[in-house]
Amino acid sequence: MSGLKGIKTVRDFEFQDKVVFLRLDLNVPMDKGHITDDTRIDASLETIKYIHEKGAKLVLASHLGRPKSAKDKEYSLEPVAKKLTEKLNMEVILIEDPNATAVKQLLHTLRKDQFILLENVRFEEGETKDSEEFAQRLASYTDIYINDAFGASHRAHATIHALPQLIPSRGIGFLIEKEITMLDKLLDNPKRPYVAILGGAKVSDKIAVIEKLIDIVDAFVIGGAMAYTFLKAQGQFVGKSLVENDKLKYAKEMLERIEARNKTVLLPVDHLVTTSISDTKSAHYSSMINENELGVDIGPETLKKFQTLIKEAGTIFWNGPMGVFETAEFSKGTFGLAKAIAESESLKIVGGGDSAAAAEMSGYADKMTHISTGGGASLEYLQGDKLPGLEVLRFKIRG
Ligand code: 3PG
Repeated sequence: MSGLKGIKTVRDFEFQDKVVFLRLDLNVPMDKGHITDDTRIDASLETIKYIHEKGAKLVLASHLGRPKSAKDKEYSLEPVAKKLTEKLNMEVILIEDPNATAVKQLLHTLRKDQFILLENVRFEEGETKDSEEFAQRLASYTDIYINDAFGASHRAHATIHALPQLIPSRGIGFLIEKEITMLDKLLDNPKRPYVAILGGAKVSDKIAVIEKLIDIVDAFVIGGAMAYTFLKAQGQFVGKSLVENDKLKYAKEMLERIEARNKTVLLPVDHLVTTSISDTKSAHYSSMINENELGVDIGPETLKKFQTLIKEAGTIFWNGPMGVFETAEFSKGTFGLAKAIAESESLKIVGGGDSAAAAEMSGYADKMTHISTGGGASLEYLQGDKLPGLEVLRFKIRG
């Protein structure tokens, strides 16, 4: 079943002269006030341009980071407003007060070449509380509500959940439409063999998705720090590597359950080991991990094994790096994996967050079929959870 059933898209609305509240995920990584990756801004442009060209007055809204209050100025959307102005070649007016009066006044005089961008919606206490009172204030000037914030759609927050309930004309933008269409390909009759490549720090973050995928995929490839919990569960010595000791039993049972279904599971057979994650000098490859060492990347033998499986795949879902790829000396495994995925002829979908950043840094991002803009949201969708930001837009279809 399509995850988009009963949900309207921007194509279904008449936008001329309407005030459109467009919720985006412009939560971009920043370093000292500078945007370090503008993927999410670029991913939002198509919907902004489309609605604008159809003659609407646009009020854009997004969160940025997790500010404690409006005083946390480092979370201001100001750099994002500047970037949007540049990319759209139009004036983006950042408005600090999202409440009715100021916005209504500005909407009266808004020119065709101007947009309103509300300051970080998390500066308002009501946002994360899904406050109806806050939503009412936003609704008082909104004719049509569009959500294109895929990465935030798993949050029941006011601009994602409470607000659309107050606006009968509501739907999604092009980004969410694409994200759900792509993720549905992983759930609905995927081309085989279907290989799920999981990495990252913790098994606990991936349990729900493993549970969902165990009956769908043909093979699991497990790398990154989470692999050490599985290896230890098999009785291997993993030194100081990151292990979730309270998940050892689960990991052991999970391996047995995968094997009982006659499915493949590949774990690392060699590692890049060192004495600490800041010690690049002692790093060397080994199939053994000594007491004073920890694994920081997969080794060449492991990569070879993973590559062989990836080559045969019809569908690949990749979520989580193979090691500490942010450190150049520890990035070979993750980037080698990205290359192997990029070169395979399969449908290749990359979950958001760290894996999206790794795909980008590896230089192979443009070879992937789809890189999700939502880390948590894509995992929650795949593991079968209902996304509040999507469900609230779904109309019941009769008959
Ligand atoms: C993300 O970066 O995953 C989204 O923007 C959601 O952010 P959050 O985890 O702070 O809600």
